[in-house]
Amino acid sequence: MPDIVEIKNMSKRFGPTVALDDVSLSACSGEVLGLIGENGSGKSTATSIYAGMQKCDEGTMLFKGQPWNPLSMNDALAKGVGMIVQENGTVPGISAAENIFLGETAEFTNGLFVNRKKMIEKAQNALDRIGADHINAALPAGALDFQDRKLVEIARVMEKNPDVLVVDETTTALSQKGRDIIYRIMEEMKNAGKTVIFISHDLDEIMNRCDRLTVLRDGKIIRTFNSDEFEEGAIKAAMIGRELSGSYYRDDYEEETESETVLTAEHLNLTDQLIDFSMEVRKGEILGIGGLSHCGMHTLGKVLFAAEKAESGTIKVHDHTYENEAAAMKEGIGYVAKDRDTESLVLEASIKDNIAIAGLDRIAVKKHFIFRKNENRYVDEQVASLSIKCNDSSQYVSTLSGGNKQKVAFGKWMGRDSQILILDCPTRGVDIGVKQSMYQLMYRMKQEGKSIILISEEMAELIGMSDRLLIMKDGRLQKELKRSRELSEADVIEYMI
Ligand SMILES: Nc1ncnc2c1ncn2[C@@H]1O[C@H](COP(=O)(O)OP(=O)(O)OP(=O)(O)O)[C@@H](O)[C@H]1O
Ligand SMILES: [Mg+2]
Repeated sequence: MPDIVEIKNMSKRFGPTVALDDVSLSACSGEVLGLIGENGSGKSTATSIYAGMQKCDEGTMLFKGQPWNPLSMNDALAKGVGMIVQENGTVPGISAAENIFLGETAEFTNGLFVNRKKMIEKAQNALDRIGADHINAALPAGALDFQDRKLVEIARVMEKNPDVLVVDETTTALSQKGRDIIYRIMEEMKNAGKTVIFISHDLDEIMNRCDRLTVLRDGKIIRTFNSDEFEEGAIKAAMIGRELSGSYYRDDYEEETESETVLTAEHLNLTDQLIDFSMEVRKGEILGIGGLSHCGMHTLGKVLFAAEKAESGTIKVHDHTYENEAAAMKEGIGYVAKDRDTESLVLEASIKDNIAIAGLDRIAVKKHFIFRKNENRYVDEQVASLSIKCNDSSQYVSTLSGGNKQKVAFGKWMGRDSQILILDCPTRGVDIGVKQSMYQLMYRMKQEGKSIILISEEMAELIGMSDRLLIMKDGRLQKELKRSRELSEADVIEYMI
């Protein structure tokens, strides 16, 4: 098969960081090429250069055998190379339709007037075609949730019928419906002799979906595996440069004595997201919450942190009610939001400032005075324990790789003495090595008597980590499942759909 995508001897630096060091890779027609590597290994940098988002310092690129030097992402897309980016790729203030035809309003302009009706109609068609007909193209992108905004991006790229599609760490944040849409598009492109480059930290997903797999480490290509060479241990070793040992999830299954209740939610109602929803959280338990993406679980996370208000119902921590986020934090609640870029992090601020914001009350020794030395020590601890890849803690969060941003969002709450942690998709986009440390950290917190509410789209993580698992469906509590060795993904999914 002829090579469609060729990258030769590509290098890219950001100040002192060498993001890519003499990278060469290729992908041919009718193939899904996987890219895997630890957080910060250069996957997004290499592919985003190919898709026109930024320039390399050195190297050459070819597309269908011809020199390839796209001027911008739009230019690349118009010529046949599209990318679904890892971060938010939509503009919140404008409609889904305007996002789909961003920079192309001329097509719908007649004299001075933009024919909105025509644009919305065409955008709705684009959404329907990929199987996202539940999204209203006329709505502002900001009113859509994370998954639906991703689907808008996919519709935007697929509208141009590209020859090459890059999917950058998109699937872990999507529910099964969103994943199925992406998988189907990948399959169709492959069958049509087109090319897909698929980036993911989920090894099973990679091994199931890809024809070949290229491993990056510290900006260098380590090895390319053909599908008949796919073997978990070998791939992990190539990624990390050492064998990963120890079990991934906790491995205890003994029944525990029931401990006291720390948080009680009763009869919560909020639009179609929460319907007469009640739950309790016990001391020292990991309470998993799962369901399909629109089942209400992400809204529940926000409501428990008082970031959103329920229309009715009560939430109490040890008999205290709380009305806003500050009060929730006073009650010892911490919250890692799913949508890290808009809700969890201040991107144009340093790692230090992001981590220190949540930990302020611990750092301040005397009220209102922040001791720099304590602050630095506290931040450095978090950076080291989560191996956040950065030059130093003054680096802006906006310049970190996706997984490293996620670690900052997580680290922000870990050092803080939260007694109840609400974690919404906490391991999204995090590589397997650090994921393992996050699971260990969660387990340690449980043993210290802290309570964790783990909201997740990843079934294996929910089953592997939870003491109890609540399955939600259409805003209601559908089923409660106890931790058990026998519990399978199929058992859980049965209650979701
Ligand atoms: N604009 C930037 N300024 C400074 N450093 C950057 C910038 N963009 C990327 N980097 C650095 O380049 C390195 C490679 O980042 P990249 O985003 O390509 O990693 P990745 O393999 O996609 O990781 P992840 O799995 O976390 O998404 C990282 O160390 C990152 O901090
Ligand atoms: Mg990335």
